[in-house]
Amino acid sequence: MRLGKKMGVVAAGAALALTLTACAGEGAGSSSGDGDGGGETEGGTIGVAMPTETSERWIADGDAVKSGLEEAGYDVDLQFAGDDIPTQTQQIDAMITGGAEALIIAAIDGTALTSQLDAAAAADIPVISYDRLIRDSENVDFYVSFDNYKVGVAQATALLYGLGLTDAAGEPTGEEGEFNIELFAGSPDDNNAHFFWDGAMDTLQPFFDDGSLTVPSGQTEFDQAATLRWEQERAQKRMEDLITSTYTGGDTELHGVLAPYDGLSRGIITALTGAGFGDTIEDGLPVVTGQDAEIASVKLIQDGVQQSTIFKDTRKLADQAVIAAEAYLAGEEPEANDTETYDNGVKVVPSYLLEVDTVYSDNITELLVDSGYWTQDEIDAGQAE
Ligand code: BGC
Repeated sequence: MRLGKKMGVVAAGAALALTLTACAGEGAGSSSGDGDGGGETEGGTIGVAMPTETSERWIADGDAVKSGLEEAGYDVDLQFAGDDIPTQTQQIDAMITGGAEALIIAAIDGTALTSQLDAAAAADIPVISYDRLIRDSENVDFYVSFDNYKVGVAQATALLYGLGLTDAAGEPTGEEGEFNIELFAGSPDDNNAHFFWDGAMDTLQPFFDDGSLTVPSGQTEFDQAATLRWEQERAQKRMEDLITSTYTGGDTELHGVLAPYDGLSRGIITALTGAGFGDTIEDGLPVVTGQDAEIASVKLIQDGVQQSTIFKDTRKLADQAVIAAEAYLAGEEPEANDTETYDNGVKVVPSYLLEVDTVYSDNITELLVDSGYWTQDEIDAGQAE
């Protein structure tokens, strides 16, 4: 039986003491089964709803949350929804009627879960919004994520650094280039996509203002740059269209592309190499950024094809989700480190935000191999083992 969910605040020390070691040593590609929980548990079942298995970060997230919760004594109902909104709402409905003690949800469409969250609240089930903020509902209890605005800043800084306009820390170098770039954004129904975009655009703006950067297509609005469902093929198609409309004939060069997720980056790179822009950055391929340190993209970075990615350590995020769930189930309130930023349209959701790192070819070992996220063999193969 679960205790009431709003009784106190877990002290930082206690929260840390609850930090799980279950994920330590497991890399991003490690797998812990398909989700029915198992073994001897005493804590009841926690529902974990993830958006899709097509991007490996969500598989890693799901696995890490599941093993952390199991280590803490819970059964886990882990579901992936194939990026299909009705499938996800149905899965969450089933978790609620199945008696879940808590829900951890990474939404596909952050605005589509209001009735599920109403039902969860009616059953006194705490809801933890995972990585992506669930919007338009007062029944989101807590949010665990990365600092999403800073992700956008980091992506734009990587682009500026790749063009030589700033150093890696974002300090202007004084270089007087005139560079042409194109902009891609994520899925418009994902709250994060807007934060990434805002962080990136605020960072690029001074360079648009002083003429160092131009977007020759003129497509500088979020809606023009957005990529529904974060689909790689959609990004590839848009890049092909941009090449046709703006970069054929040889008059206009393209130097960089802001891409907010590795899947999109690879679609964009496919379009660019297909159109003869060069196979590597050294050969003339524009600087293309990314996010998530997906194994295929890490290999491309190692090979000098993709310029950068943002590393979000899903093991750390999973730990925070487990800590928050445990706090609620112990009748406590999880500790937030941000109580201002994430307004979901109805309320500001208390959040725990983690920091990110930018991966370039010269720090892959330090950030990804030494931390056990990927092995060097996996990177060389471009595939998780
Ligand atoms: C996540 C990113 C991810 C994207 C596409 C966003 O909500 O924060 O890490 O790249 O979804 O899956």
